[in-house]
Amino acid sequence: MPFVFKSKKISADTEKETKIHPAGAWKNYSKVRRINAEQCRNQIGNKIIDVENISLSYENKAVVNNLSFQVYQGDYFCIVGENGSGKTTLLDALLGLKKPDCGKIDLLDSLKRNDIGFLPQHTEVQRDFPATVFEIVMSGCIGRHSKGPFLSKNDRQTAFTNMEKLGITSLSSRSYRELSGGQQQRVLLARALCSATRVLMLDEPVTGLDPKAASDMYSLVHDINKKEGITIIMISHDISSVLKYASHVLCLDRSKYFFGPVENFIKYRDKACEKQYGDDALYGNSDAYKFGGTDIN
Ligand SMILES: Nc1ncnc2c1ncn2[C@@H]1O[C@H](COP(=O)(O)OP(=O)(O)OP(=O)(O)O)[C@@H](O)[C@H]1O
Ligand SMILES: [Mg+2]
Repeated sequence: MPFVFKSKKISADTEKETKIHPAGAWKNYSKVRRINAEQCRNQIGNKIIDVENISLSYENKAVVNNLSFQVYQGDYFCIVGENGSGKTTLLDALLGLKKPDCGKIDLLDSLKRNDIGFLPQHTEVQRDFPATVFEIVMSGCIGRHSKGPFLSKNDRQTAFTNMEKLGITSLSSRSYRELSGGQQQRVLLARALCSATRVLMLDEPVTGLDPKAASDMYSLVHDINKKEGITIIMISHDISSVLKYASHVLCLDRSKYFFGPVENFIKYRDKACEKQYGDDALYGNSDAYKFGGTDIN
C-alpha cells in the first residue's frame, strides 16, 4: 500500500539555486538500480494493467462510468480532463485505495502495488509534516524488499542518489515543513522515485514549480521512462507537454472517454475543437481508438 503524503497548497517560490537533474546523477542512479532497470527493460511491451469496464462513485454519485483501458510496461501514459472529471479518483483505484463499484482492475506480469511509486496531487493540509527531508525520501524505500520496515545501506544509497537527481541533497537534514512549496514537491518526487521499481504515478507533478523547474522535471521523468523502462502514469493539465512526451492518452470527460496513442489523441482533439467532442463514429472503426463510457450526467 503506498504511503499517501498529504500537503498544503503550495506556492511557486522554488529555491533558485537548487538544480534538478545535476550532471553525473544518472551514472550513480543507474549503478544503484541496475538490477531493477534491467528487469524493467526486459519487461517492456508486456501488458501490466488491464482495466475493464470500471465505474467509480462517491456516495452513489458517478464519477467514472464504464471505463476500459490497458497499460504496457514502458508506456508514458497521460490522463487528462477537466477539473472534477475523476482523474485522481482513477489513480486511487489503480493504487487499490478506492474500490470500483463494478468492473475489474488487474495487475499483470507480476506487477505489485509495491512496485509503484506515487507522487500525490498537492492538496490542503499537512505541509507541517515533522520529519527531515532525508527521512521522507528514505521512507519511499519501505516496501521495496521483504525486510519490512528495516532499511538497508542500499536503501540509503538509493535515497541519496534520488536526492541528488532532484537537487535537494543540501536540504537533506532540513525539516520538511520549513521548505518552500516547490522544494517540497521535489522531496516528494525523490520519495516516489525510491519506490518506483516498475511504475511511477504522478498526479499533476509540476504544480508549484517555476517554468525552468517544471521543464527539468519533465525531462527527468522522460529519462526515467526511456533509460529504465519505468512506466509513467501522469495526470496533467499541461497539454503541450502531454503531446510532447506521452505515448498514450486517456482523456476523461463527463460523458465520454478517449483512450489511444498520442497521435490519435491529436486528431481527436483537432476534431473536438472543430465540433465539440466530435462524434463517436469518427474513430469507431479504428483499432487504435477506444471510446467508452456512457452519459453520467
Ligand atoms: N473523498 C471524496 N468524497 C466525495 N466526493 C469526492 C471525493 N473525492 C473526490 N470527490 C468528487 O469526485 C469528483 C472527481 O474528483 P477527482 O478529485 O477525482 O477529480 P480530478 O479530475 O482529479 O480533478 P482535478 O483536476 O481538480 O484534480 C469531483 O466531483 C469531486 O468533488
Ligand atoms: Mg485531481
